[in-house]
Amino acid sequence: MYRLKARVKRPKALLVVTLTMSMSFLILYSMLDLQYSHAQSEVLEIPLTATPLNVTIMTKTSVKERQKTTASPNQVSSSASVLEKVSISETFWKSVPKNSAYWNRKFHSMLRVLDHMENVTSHESPDRFHCMRESDESLHLNIPDFNSYPALYQDFLHSMACHDSQIVIDQPNKCGLDNGDDHVFLLFAIKSTPQHFMQRQAVRDTWGKEGVYLNGLRVRTVFLLGRSHVDDPNLDKLISFEAKEFGDLLIWDFQDSFYNLTLKENVFFKWLLQSCPRVSFVFKGDDDVFANTHAILNYLKTLNPTMASKLYTGQIISQASPLRDRKNKYYVPQSFYEGAYPPYAGGGGFLFSGSLIHSLYSISRYIPFFPIDDVYTGMCFQALGILPEKHKGFQTFDIREQDRDNACVHRDLLLVHQRDPQQTTRLWRAMHSPLLTC
Ligand SMILES: *[C@@H]1O[C@H](CO)[C@@H](O)[C@H](O)[C@H]1NC(C)=O
Ligand SMILES: *[C@@H]1O[C@H](CO)[C@@H](O)[C@H](O)[C@H]1NC(C)=O
Ligand SMILES: *[C@@H]1O[C@H](CO)[C@@H](O)[C@H](O)[C@H]1NC(C)=O
Repeated sequence: MYRLKARVKRPKALLVVTLTMSMSFLILYSMLDLQYSHAQSEVLEIPLTATPLNVTIMTKTSVKERQKTTASPNQVSSSASVLEKVSISETFWKSVPKNSAYWNRKFHSMLRVLDHMENVTSHESPDRFHCMRESDESLHLNIPDFNSYPALYQDFLHSMACHDSQIVIDQPNKCGLDNGDDHVFLLFAIKSTPQHFMQRQAVRDTWGKEGVYLNGLRVRTVFLLGRSHVDDPNLDKLISFEAKEFGDLLIWDFQDSFYNLTLKENVFFKWLLQSCPRVSFVFKGDDDVFANTHAILNYLKTLNPTMASKLYTGQIISQASPLRDRKNKYYVPQSFYEGAYPPYAGGGGFLFSGSLIHSLYSISRYIPFFPIDDVYTGMCFQALGILPEKHKGFQTFDIREQDRDNACVHRDLLLVHQRDPQQTTRLWRAMHSPLLTC
């Protein structure tokens, strides 16, 4: 009697467990599938570059809690183990609406992958990010109006999954050795293009001059470049002379173009991690801005340690959304991205803390490339849970016309956009003239 009961009970319990499990899997599955339900049935699962592992295990908690924790890629150097746990902030993943736009779908697929990678210590080969161009077929299937995209945009999408590029001219000792004496306080990292010789020289001669400021704050400068276009005259010899002469060019093997600026940022993060990981602060900006080095240093010097360790500041653009006018430089097609932008610092010039280099690099591996580099930067910081701090000294949309040559006005600013090499030189001279009275 007793034994029989027990025998009957056990299958019942098993049945309940099985049913509950199947139900939760069904629910889970439908949740996961939601984002594809309004897409066409033949839409392919977008191949993800950062999915090195076969995903088979699903857990309820991983989806429910959405605690995207994963080990970061470890291809920076084969010797030093640089795994860092990263997790994508809830604020960020919640701010990206689930819809049929390509980027949104790519991002949410990535989140699902991260869910499954929770406790995987990834051991990836250095060539994990080798560039495989996305096929026309896949892009057409996933983006119904892909044909109507501007040609350069199509090109961006083809190489969007390429997160890495070979460095061809390096400055491995830019930040010195690790002995404390030559600690770099501020690194200027200036986006330039091969033909901008004049802009670079103006920066070197003025605000980007390397040296030791304010009794001991070491400042270093690098220019970030890609390759010139095949149709441009060959500048390789001039560039390699310039690199030797000044020791401040970093050049990677990709075509320097507007839509490749996000790639430029990624390879720069990687370089920072390798060659300048202990810098206190990084300024990233354009070669056509005017920066006030002394004002920047004075500001950075006064930050309290908490502020300093999480710094991301500049002119903050909040509540921006994609521009849908095809003729605009910042055009973003609806079928590519739908949703608002995170608050971000204008790419003309912004500052961030050196202590964030590692996490920034790690998180950037998991955020699909975006055609606008400063929006992408904002996404990375938001994914880290760091809000940009507004600073009124950054004027990336420039100041009143009548003040643009006024050295006194510039003394109180940290950055203005935009100034040509002559204006920069003139302003700098005026600002540092002993005759200046403000
Ligand atoms: C993934 O699956 C493929 C094919 O089933 C297999 O060859 C490969 O080794 C698997 N990779 C990992 C990381 O398990
Ligand atoms: C994940 O981590 C848990 C606890 O550390 C461990 O028991 C489990 O085996 C791990 N799973 C895998 C797939 O490595
Ligand atoms: C970016 O660089 C890659 C590598 O050189 C190139 O194939 C691609 O066309 C470039 N993309 C754009 C949009 O210029």
